[in-house]
Amino acid sequence: MTSAEGGPQAGLRALLRPAAVIPVLVVEDAELAVALAEALVAGGLPVLEFTLRTPAALQAVQRVAVHVPGAIVGTGTVRSPDDLLRSADAGAVFAVSPGLSPRLAEAAERSPIPLLPGVSTASEAMSAAERGFSTLKLFPAVPVGGVALLRALGGPLPELRFCPTGGVSLKNAPEFLALPNVICVGGSWVAPAEALAAGDWTTVRALAAEAAALRPDSQPLPDCSAR
Ligand code: 3PG
Repeated sequence: MTSAEGGPQAGLRALLRPAAVIPVLVVEDAELAVALAEALVAGGLPVLEFTLRTPAALQAVQRVAVHVPGAIVGTGTVRSPDDLLRSADAGAVFAVSPGLSPRLAEAAERSPIPLLPGVSTASEAMSAAERGFSTLKLFPAVPVGGVALLRALGGPLPELRFCPTGGVSLKNAPEFLALPNVICVGGSWVAPAEALAAGDWTTVRALAAEAAALRPDSQPLPDCSAR
């Protein structure tokens, strides 16, 4: 088993350390990405996942990587080796996938950026660990068993760490974050589609601050709080 700091996940845990919550973002218009990222970073959530579900996603990553210095920009919904390469080319510093296929695992070994792969069972977690992935996204977290599943996995697989995503909310996030094998959670609730469509960055920033307060060490950064 490869350590968290080597192989296809070199540096990943250090990148995720500032995150209590990773906003899972679906951006329809790359023009809005910088304002969105600024609001989230200012609220105290610097680690951002732009899902590759819209044509605008990679352009959004490019813009945020250049124009929002406090942001730690990643891509999500990475499903293929090509997605991984395009993510790195756009300036993403990490990538997240809903699951781990053999092709994607192989590509991650050669990738310039680390991959956080999704798993939903003990067998998938063990297979991922065999390939050098010890930090895993539990996806979709709540439907596959949530807190109870993570607690159960912590017994036989104590060295693995998880970022549960899917069904996580402000209400249930504290239960996840209290688990010793959870390093952060992912969720879309901090960037609701209606707020993005309306350009309501005040609401996004407030939601981010509320989420960041779930873990005191992820409070707003001094250099971003004035934005
Ligand atoms: C996703 O991939 O859409 C994430 O799991 C986000 O899920 P959520 O909308 O339940 O936070």
